[in-house]
Amino acid sequence: MNISITKTTNPIEKPTKDLGFGKYFTDHMFIMDYVAGEGWKDARIVPFAPISLHPAATVFHYGAEVFEGLKAYRRADGEIQFFRPIENARRINNSAERIRLPQIPEEDFMQALTELVKLDADWVPSGNGESLYLRPFLFGTDDALGLHSIKKARFMIICSPSGSYYKEGINPVKIMIEDEDVRAVRGGTGYAKCGGNYAASNRAGEKAAEKGFTQVLWLDGVDRKYIEEVGAMNVMFKIGGEIVTPSLEGSILPGITRKSCIELLRAKGFSVTERKISIDELCAAMENGTLEEAWGCGTAAVVSPIGQLYYDGKTYTINNNEIGAVTQLLYDNLTGIQWGRLEDTFGWTVRL
Ligand code: PLP
Ligand code: COI
Repeated sequence: MNISITKTTNPIEKPTKDLGFGKYFTDHMFIMDYVAGEGWKDARIVPFAPISLHPAATVFHYGAEVFEGLKAYRRADGEIQFFRPIENARRINNSAERIRLPQIPEEDFMQALTELVKLDADWVPSGNGESLYLRPFLFGTDDALGLHSIKKARFMIICSPSGSYYKEGINPVKIMIEDEDVRAVRGGTGYAKCGGNYAASNRAGEKAAEKGFTQVLWLDGVDRKYIEEVGAMNVMFKIGGEIVTPSLEGSILPGITRKSCIELLRAKGFSVTERKISIDELCAAMENGTLEEAWGCGTAAVVSPIGQLYYDGKTYTINNNEIGAVTQLLYDNLTGIQWGRLEDTFGWTVRL
């Protein structure tokens, strides 16, 4: 793929402290456009700026959008690396297939990511827990209101130097289990990383925030009985010595951090079971003290201990609201590999 590059003549001032998450953007962004019958064209890296779209564009009216999230990490030796980027390339295509947006060749996805981060390399921060969060996204741009298959689309990547996703950092977060709204059902778009899933989550998210909770833990959309995932992360528990996580049955996102946690734990000799976990089982374990640890995992959230769970009018405290041993082990090993402090025996990292 030939990528034209227009460098900025007006560099943005870099933030010096308190990056937070997703608040600042780098000097450049990647764009390419798709037209059915012609394919992808006009791949370009341009100065970061607002974009102009037709007001009838499919993305605005019918939610034709999928996205990804991954990070570029600054190693202690100054080099930059990605964590399992090919998994994001595959997942965006899997998500795109669900809502019939065009596929992006994996090598083009990787080239776009690499050239953009090379150009904005000095934006990859080096502070503790900081990284360059990369947001590839793909959306429909057809300029007509009829409901029909998508003929025009755009793929973009923007980059945001970021720190911790939660203000709590590695401290335990408080999560509300939602039993009214649902996020996804099997056969729907739950497994796809598409914007509409997040729009459907807003109301419960606001309810949780009003009650003082950080995010929502979803139950399945059919029986409202089985644990699914948290707003921006997959979830894992240690119950009576067993490490468990909800199995992938079409309604939850197949997280890359989830997959990495499972592989890491198994490599360290732990057994991990992917199965259905009912809210009754979880509540019983919280009542009788066998819920030893709970944590969420995701690219933005990394590994995040869950200190409190709220369900049906009751707040349960987990592990004295402290990070547990398995959560800590995962956090240390995963972040160790991502930032290059530990040897990557899995072959997950890709140097820039
Ligand atoms: N579940 C949801 C709903 C998410 O938004 C995310 C974040 O991307 C995850 C899980 C974790 O996925 P990953 O580990 O691939 O970032
Ligand atoms: C990520 O972890 O990359 C996400 O997409 C989370 C996002 C919804 C804030």
